[in-house]
Amino acid sequence: MCGIVGYVGSRDAVPVIVEGLRQLEYRGYDSAGVAVVRDGTLQRRRSVGKLCNLEDSLRAEPLAGAFGIGHTRWATHGRPSEENAHPHQDCKGKIVVVHNGIIENYLPLKTRLAAQGHKFVTQTDTEVVAHLVESLYKGDLEDAVRRALGELEGIYALVLLHKDEPQKLIAARKGPPLVVGLGEKEHFLASDIPALLSYTRDFLFLDDGDVVVVTPDSVKLTDSSGRVVKRDPQRITWDPIQAEKGGYRHFMLKEIHEQPRAVRDTLLGRIGIEDGEVHLEELGAAEEELKRAKRVMLVACGTSWHAALVGKYLLEQVAQVPAEVDYGSEFRYRNPLVGPASLCVAITQSGETADTLAAFREAKRLGALPIAICNVQGSMITREAAGTLLTHAGPEIGVASTKAFTAQIVALALLALRLGRLRGTLTNERCRELLESLARVPHLMENALAMSGRMDDAAKWLSRSPNMLYLGRGVNYPIALEGALKMKEISYIHAEGYPAGEMKHGPIALIDESLPVVALCPRGRVYDKMLSNIQEVKARGGRVIAITFQGDTEVGKVLEADRDLIFDVPAVAEVWSPLLMVLPLQLMAYHTAVRAGRDVDQPRNLAKSVTVE
Ligand code: G6P
Repeated sequence: MCGIVGYVGSRDAVPVIVEGLRQLEYRGYDSAGVAVVRDGTLQRRRSVGKLCNLEDSLRAEPLAGAFGIGHTRWATHGRPSEENAHPHQDCKGKIVVVHNGIIENYLPLKTRLAAQGHKFVTQTDTEVVAHLVESLYKGDLEDAVRRALGELEGIYALVLLHKDEPQKLIAARKGPPLVVGLGEKEHFLASDIPALLSYTRDFLFLDDGDVVVVTPDSVKLTDSSGRVVKRDPQRITWDPIQAEKGGYRHFMLKEIHEQPRAVRDTLLGRIGIEDGEVHLEELGAAEEELKRAKRVMLVACGTSWHAALVGKYLLEQVAQVPAEVDYGSEFRYRNPLVGPASLCVAITQSGETADTLAAFREAKRLGALPIAICNVQGSMITREAAGTLLTHAGPEIGVASTKAFTAQIVALALLALRLGRLRGTLTNERCRELLESLARVPHLMENALAMSGRMDDAAKWLSRSPNMLYLGRGVNYPIALEGALKMKEISYIHAEGYPAGEMKHGPIALIDESLPVVALCPRGRVYDKMLSNIQEVKARGGRVIAITFQGDTEVGKVLEADRDLIFDVPAVAEVWSPLLMVLPLQLMAYHTAVRAGRDVDQPRNLAKSVTVE
């Protein structure tokens, strides 16, 4: 949701900023822009659409600068246009600003500033910041920004510069993420680490309320009241290559194929097959408190919400602890009754999703023990949680989440197993059995992913279908939802996920020969019921894509060889079956979107991390 980059140092700022923006394009791609200063002259260049348009413009008419800022936009206020593209400037063209977030009181501020004579030229909320700082500027940008922040309501990551204050950037954070990259006589600012990994591994993470003044030789970090804060930098150990495509055509395909590794890494060091126990020491003191948990509230958004639904099933089935699931955006606006001994588990790949964070904070305020399942070390949620279970999926770049999802399910599985053992509701023997089968999952996933090549028949058919229905039951009902979401996100085909048992209460009316129905049919408790649901579809002339376990002999009997399709995955314990059943659905969505000519890694209107409510 908007990406920001800033640079001060001795290099030409433009390529540094553009390269950084490329790594942040997952955050938005409605427009892109840069503003740089050279010899006291401020120059801006902005283009609608993807970063490549800005790059074309810079190639045609190059810009250079000693310091500057850049932005890639996910539009909130004002349609995507060159005029609305960041950086925005004040009336005199001396101050420029880039922003990620929403200034909620921009209208009253705009009215006031316009009455004072400020000329507004965009429909954005951000432009008000440039004019507000201009109105407060008395020769010291830091002072003006600080006073402006006192008037802003909403959330923001902001970076500003003044053309007459050379080699200086001022940044502030309240909500959306911002990091400072530390170099030798050069410093960087960015919304996310990958933007700067080619230049540095050393980062300072800004907290809410922080203001930072960055020059080539110094980084002055202060809190909202202006007090200087000392904070240790963190060294990032990931390999920048992990954030590259590595020979795959798209990040999404690479990330689908990385899932066996992501699951293996998420299990690593946490399971003891010999002692039949799960070790989650990283939860620290919070681990002890788990024992007292009488109830678990899971909060999340998007794909992570689907992982939470699987988590509910696992917590109830494996740990026998009552669990409920909320959308981050809904939790706060009902009246959540957080009883004693409640655990709130937030599931978020990025650790920055505004709705999830807001729900998490509310649950914490109401007395729940806050635990995070997160893929980004050092992200906002990990700093607010009493304990974090990191998923080790590695950086996920494709906007449609894949490897983070399966890693989240594994983290939830570990939590359920640990809770079961701590509460005494899971025997050591059963825990060992479950761990043994969980440990085999990465290998089984590798086997399942080998089907990649066979998806073409499905993709050919599906890319011409305007609608689809996904059916699942039990622990695989959330996988039906996730399969439908993947299809919607990247192919723009309308797809609905439904609990198969509910089909007769409505969706059955949609079934005819033109509606592809994906049915998740692994062997297990609800296998016979799923078979009946498939029969119901077939009886109405529907066409089915069934996902079964290898060796299944029944499903094929109710399908028609020339009209239906079957994909099978290796058999596994039913509780872990979502980890395998989701793979063909991810591949199906991917290949369908590619065949339909969609932009798989950057689907329209979406952003990877959504830092506004
Ligand atoms: C956005 C992304 C989804 C993601 C959701 C939650 O909508 O496009 O892929 O599932 O945010 O993100 P989180 O980082 O909290 O898991």
